Amino acid sequence: MTNPVLDNHLSADHMARALRADVRAGLSGPRKTLPPKWFYDATGSELFERITELPEYYPTRAEREVLLARAPEIAAVTGAATLVELGSGSSEKTRALLDALLAGGTLKKFVPMDVSISALSAAARSIVEQYPGLLVHGVAGDFTEHLSLLPGDEPRLVAFLGGTIGNLLPGERGKFFGAVRELLGPGEWLLLGTDLVKDRQVLVEAYDDAQGVTAEFNRNVLRVVNRELDADFEPEAFEHVAVWDAEQEWIEMRLRATRAMTVGLPGAGVEVRFAAGEELRTEVSAKFRRERVEQELAEAGFELAHWWTDTEGRFAVSLATAR
Ligand code: AVJ
Repeated sequence: MTNPVLDNHLSADHMARALRADVRAGLSGPRKTLPPKWFYDATGSELFERITELPEYYPTRAEREVLLARAPEIAAVTGAATLVELGSGSSEKTRALLDALLAGGTLKKFVPMDVSISALSAAARSIVEQYPGLLVHGVAGDFTEHLSLLPGDEPRLVAFLGGTIGNLLPGERGKFFGAVRELLGPGEWLLLGTDLVKDRQVLVEAYDDAQGVTAEFNRNVLRVVNRELDADFEPEAFEHVAVWDAEQEWIEMRLRATRAMTVGLPGAGVEVRFAAGEELRTEVSAKFRRERVEQELAEAGFELAHWWTDTEGRFAVSLATAR
């Protein structure tokens, strides 16, 4: 069996420096935040895979429905020679695209990119096994930093699925779309998955499931920080909170301190005080409407070619072309 090629832009040193900077910036101010990318060590990636199977967490199933229905059309319209997948995780839903692009005879190479090296190498190996003849070139990297380092022949189709775009704040989103646009030449493609604005209760339950898997996923970021920065967070002293911000149209996940405490983070050279009830924001997951997606893509130099949703209208997949 051929092995997948794997590039690693995430040296231990790079990761340690980035986490230290994020911790110093996010935990020193009056409103505490940490970026969601730090959820995804091996345990966090596994917990996320369990989330995708929860009855309350509809986005994965809704997006899979769209991809299965539209993959042949996506393959025909794009004729992609390279499929790049940003934030690829397990690349599970991507198989619908690989099947269709291979059936169409255009696809030569698959380039999954993820911050989780464990998830990436497992996915790359399993895809090499399932698709002999397809070149698989995995890139361990941060899609907000390492976009210019992606290999592959044109025309390329860049897939950014799962609604992960919602993890970026509006300003970061603009930068990200701009960077993807710069990577591509005119006529190349972006396939974007976006979760849609809907009933508040459906949204909150998707991020606060009855079994508590999302709560464990949320607390996992504290375990990552403990391990990487020798910190002494007590994950059990934090409560999982999911709230819908109707103004911003995003879900926020937070960890709420159940009592006052001081946490040492020697690896970052800081000590952080929490008041009882104080919250640390660990994730923003923005929800979209068609107009906003279309407008943000247009501002970055993309033209929306197709907008597809699942039958219940919960989740959208957009296919856009670089102008
Ligand atoms: C992987 C970013 C798409 O925002 O829905 C799931 C992560 N957080 N449950 C999302 C997540 C809580 C997920 N994304």
